[in-house]
Amino acid sequence: MKIRPLFKSDLEQMLLIEKAVHIAPWNEETFKTCFQVGYIGWAIEDQDKLLGFVIISLSADECHVLNLCVGREYQHQGLGRQLMEYALAQAREKGAGIVYLEVRRSNSRAISLYRKMKFHLIGERKDYYPTVNGQEDALIFGKSLVQLDL
Ligand SMILES: CC(C)(COP(=O)(O)OP(=O)(O)OC[C@H]1O[C@@H](n2cnc3c(N)ncnc32)[C@H](O)[C@@H]1OP(=O)(O)O)[C@@H](O)C(=O)NCCC(=O)NCCS
Repeated sequence: MKIRPLFKSDLEQMLLIEKAVHIAPWNEETFKTCFQVGYIGWAIEDQDKLLGFVIISLSADECHVLNLCVGREYQHQGLGRQLMEYALAQAREKGAGIVYLEVRRSNSRAISLYRKMKFHLIGERKDYYPTVNGQEDALIFGKSLVQLDL
């Protein structure tokens, strides 16, 4: 198993994972835009099979985690954490001092992962995400990248 940069040629496999695990999955256009505007991403793969990926943006000294997902059958094996740790280490190496992300209030799996990685709740956005029958709040988490305990 290895972590390596994401390429446009990964799009097909990324879309399959995205559609299988997200409530409101990104579409092909959104992923293409990520590549065009220079967002950075990494894949975790095993013998050419994409198991999960992470996408971040970097501006000034801020890192934003835009997408993190692991294929359903590969979840709960530490891959999400490995991807996040790798992305944050890369962001720090490129000069980021802080990282932010948004997550659905109901996404207890992701929130549990972020809390274990010492992210702190720093805010909320009311009714930010669409749901099947309404809206749902976003929780905003942040973490300093200056300290060494990634
Ligand atoms: C969130 C997500 C990326 C976590 O990836 P993962 O590979 O399953 O996570 P890990 O195996 O690295 O687990 C890290 C921690 O996440 C939490 N977690 C992961 N899967 C869990 C599960 N099935 N039940 C409860 N907690 C879980 C736990 O805190 C876990 O720590 P532990 O292994 O010490 O118990 C993955 O569940 C996913 O792709 N979800 C759908 C997409 C999504 O919600 N992305 C985040 C949007 S902000």
